[in-house]
Amino acid sequence: MPRTTALDPLFTAVNTAAFTDRHLANLAAGTLAAVRVPDFLDRRTCAGALAALGRLPTADYAPARVPTPIVRFGPALNDYRDQDGRLDADRYWCDAEAARAAWHRAGMRPDPVAVSLARLGSAWGAAVTPATIGGRAVFGGTLREINAGALVHYDDLNREFPTGLFDQETVAQLAFNVWVAVPVTGGATTVWRHRWEPADERHRQAYGYRPETVEHCQRVSLRPEHGDGLLFNPANFHAVEPCPGQRRIAFAFFLALTTTGQLIAWS
Ligand SMILES: [Fe+2]
Repeated sequence: MPRTTALDPLFTAVNTAAFTDRHLANLAAGTLAAVRVPDFLDRRTCAGALAALGRLPTADYAPARVPTPIVRFGPALNDYRDQDGRLDADRYWCDAEAARAAWHRAGMRPDPVAVSLARLGSAWGAAVTPATIGGRAVFGGTLREINAGALVHYDDLNREFPTGLFDQETVAQLAFNVWVAVPVTGGATTVWRHRWEPADERHRQAYGYRPETVEHCQRVSLRPEHGDGLLFNPANFHAVEPCPGQRRIAFAFFLALTTTGQLIAWS
């Protein structure tokens, strides 16, 4: 089926001084592509977070051809999924509790994840709370260094765990990133105006999809700046451009809008 070349005027990347409830609602509805808040975290908070990285037990992840160290801290639920789309609970909770303890020990002041959640809650008009499983709060606030890029992919908890995962029922998912180290060149985040459809499976590649799956789709690209906060709807296909030899480090978590109008967070 040929795709139209006309552009959706609402699918834009907004630069703004602060996130608002309207931004969150439009991202959840899927009309808006992305919202960026420059200097979401100030220099002091970013510097404090970077300094504290050395105190976090980051997994060493050093594939060949990547000359810089790669920081990965904190478990992402998606990495604890079994073949049937169920959570490997024992392994997850063990790692989640260890990460929580390590985070407290690192003593980041101010805590960039807590600051981010508080400000998103103010924008929404109600505090963002952790997603829970059986009444137990999941881990939120991973730290990820992505220097080698990320394939075109999407994130959608309701597809990853089709039998349900959280105590809360969710209707829309948002991805939040805030950067504490950025590359001089490369490292752009691209979001395409495309949601998964069964035909995309023809283009499957490792954990993502080959670029042809989005080649005719409208898109926005943003190169992160130091301290930027970025929200987008990760049901839209997205990718990260490589920035070889440079560091691109972000705190990252997901938000979801629940059926009762609350925002919950997890990683
Ligand atoms: Fe993603």
